[in-house]
Amino acid sequence: MPRFSPVLRTRPGEAELRSVDLIPTWLIAGAFAIGMIVRAANPADVPALMALQLESPAAAQWSRAQYEAAFSHAGPQRVVLVIEDEHGAAGFVAALAVNHEWEIENLVIAFASRRRGLATRLVRELVETAQQEGAAMLLLEVRESNRTARAFYEKLQFTEIGRRPGYYHQPEEDAILYRRELK
Ligand SMILES: CC(C)(COP(=O)(O)OP(=O)(O)OC[C@H]1O[C@@H](n2cnc3c(N)ncnc32)[C@H](O)[C@@H]1OP(=O)(O)O)[C@@H](O)C(=O)NCCC(=O)NCCS
Repeated sequence: MPRFSPVLRTRPGEAELRSVDLIPTWLIAGAFAIGMIVRAANPADVPALMALQLESPAAAQWSRAQYEAAFSHAGPQRVVLVIEDEHGAAGFVAALAVNHEWEIENLVIAFASRRRGLATRLVRELVETAQQEGAAMLLLEVRESNRTARAFYEKLQFTEIGRRPGYYHQPEEDAILYRRELK
């Protein structure tokens, strides 16, 4: 995705670290995902992105072709950010970046890496990128029963704005729509 920096941040949370020097290391690691980097994904990441989605049934299940299309210049513009440690990708977020309304299409964190702030970092980076690109709002839809994702988005100041009855299939379920203004 040439319009976006390939490495968004190499040292997460440095400012926060300086202000919390007295907090135990394990707590800092949990709070700020130390050692993780967030970067723009590229076509070589497709197998890792697919492996992450496969271990998360609640995530949108894209085909390989859909991932490859996300990196193509032919279709609508997408931003895919990956968060990784020394072992490789631990999660990613994919967003449709159209005009002033960006839409989160997928967000997955590896099961073993959850509840350590990784998704929070990814979405914060996405928000910063969207703001820099002049987006006015970030939208998304999520299964009504996905309480984990809804709690996550609500913590990150996304507001419920509506519902699409029967939007999802297998099983059929309503989609809940969320929006976050980007000011
Ligand atoms: C939803 C998901 C991306 C969250 O990733 P994560 O890295 O664990 O999230 P974070 O650690 O940044 O959590 C931030 C906050 O979200 C909320 N949250 C996250 N997981 C939660 C859970 N299982 N139950 C309740 N609240 C939760 C909490 O408020 C949490 O803050 P806290 O840990 O200080 O209480 C992850 O659970 C996931 O990959 N789920 C499967 C795929 C999915 O549903 N994707 C969304 C499709 S739209």
